[in-house]
Amino acid sequence: MTTVDRQKLHSLREREEKRFVAEHPRSAELYRRAQGSLLGGVPMNWMKKWAGAFPVFVAHASGAHFTDVDGREYVDLCLGDTGAMTGHSPKVVADAMADRVREGITLMLPTEDAAWVGEELRRRFGLPYWQFTLTATDANRFAIRIAREITQRAKILVFHYCYHGTVDETFASLYDGVVGPRRGNIGPPVDPAETTRVVEFNDLNALEEALRHNDVACVLAEPAMTNVGIILPDEGYWNAAQQLAKRYGSLLIADETHSICAGPGGCTRLWNLQPDLFVLGKAIGSGIPGAAYGCTEEVAQRISARMELEDCDVGGVGGTLSGNAMSLAAMRVTLEQVLTPAAFERMIPLAARFASGVAEKISSAKLPWNVTQLGCRAEYTFCPQPPRNGGESAAAADFELERFLHLYALNRAVLLTPFHNMALMCPATSAEDVDLHTRVFAEAVGELV
Ligand SMILES: Cc1ncc(COP(=O)(O)O)c(C=O)c1O
Repeated sequence: MTTVDRQKLHSLREREEKRFVAEHPRSAELYRRAQGSLLGGVPMNWMKKWAGAFPVFVAHASGAHFTDVDGREYVDLCLGDTGAMTGHSPKVVADAMADRVREGITLMLPTEDAAWVGEELRRRFGLPYWQFTLTATDANRFAIRIAREITQRAKILVFHYCYHGTVDETFASLYDGVVGPRRGNIGPPVDPAETTRVVEFNDLNALEEALRHNDVACVLAEPAMTNVGIILPDEGYWNAAQQLAKRYGSLLIADETHSICAGPGGCTRLWNLQPDLFVLGKAIGSGIPGAAYGCTEEVAQRISARMELEDCDVGGVGGTLSGNAMSLAAMRVTLEQVLTPAAFERMIPLAARFASGVAEKISSAKLPWNVTQLGCRAEYTFCPQPPRNGGESAAAADFELERFLHLYALNRAVLLTPFHNMALMCPATSAEDVDLHTRVFAEAVGELV
């Protein structure tokens, strides 16, 4: 097996850093200017994590491409980390937004679109009742509240290295089997060990051990993990895990915010899962802020029985802009005309093309890396076999190598997600877009080894 020469990696990365700075003068200028008014010079702190000395500032984006303020065009395989899995500004969404924005944006009253979207979500995912928020984070928070309320249990259970948005309870990690705050957790309100049990994905014994305390309100899970590389469930895992949750009286929340990439009905439909609650966000409105959570008949009855009309606006489940007319109009047109079965039929083979191109190069360079695909998403990790859990995947992470590969791609007009090595296809992605990445990846690997 080939090993990466760290000295060489370091000097290649320095070369790419210099090239990046030289080729992005206008972004550099805006970044300098933003230091005066934005904390860290960025609108949100994670934007500092892009490979390169500063983030590229965007001029405009359309479909699978965007152009930066220096006039450079890119193939976008990050797609707003799934927010733009629909492609940037699909015309039908732009038109629907232009209409809706002239007809009222937010009213605290429902529109017909809300009923249409509820019916479509019911049809797609099988859960009968739906509510809307602005973010998947909020949808997860409210689903957890409902689970806690109806089970009257305090704890939630998540998988090691999960990500479900900025939900306090989920920023917990395992340290030699003991739960503590995840590295980088800013101002945890309480020690997450008080609120959260954490187990490794694909470990049924650990799951049962954690559930048998009978204090877990819900298991909050992505059916396939997508935020620490892609980790697929073992054959039969969910079948058994769902049975365990049921046996110990815990509800299952399927967070399909990312795993909707598996197909129009997400992993839930593909693998015939039976979650009690279901969360979807980001791409559901083509990136117009909006998210949804759904629940079963039983959950609906149990939570409805515990809510009083007089207090229903102060229960901790809400948000003034939640379910606004604009969000719902965006969801309707996205579900009706953009994230259609036909779109997935185009997108999924492109992810397979990405994965096989990258796998071929990994194999010919004899690198101990692998590629995994979930629907229209593909990702490579720096270990010989696809990781089976978060701990294994995190142990294989290589920050410097990752940054080098990302910067190398960025300097050659390809944007990957900044947090790991994920590539996502949208309906407008072309085979040429994918092949550009394959060529650039091959070039990078060729220089490296
Ligand atoms: C699986 C999953 N759930 C929820 C979220 C939170 O989404 P948002 O940041 O839009 O609230 C994310 C964000 O990356 C996610 O990956």
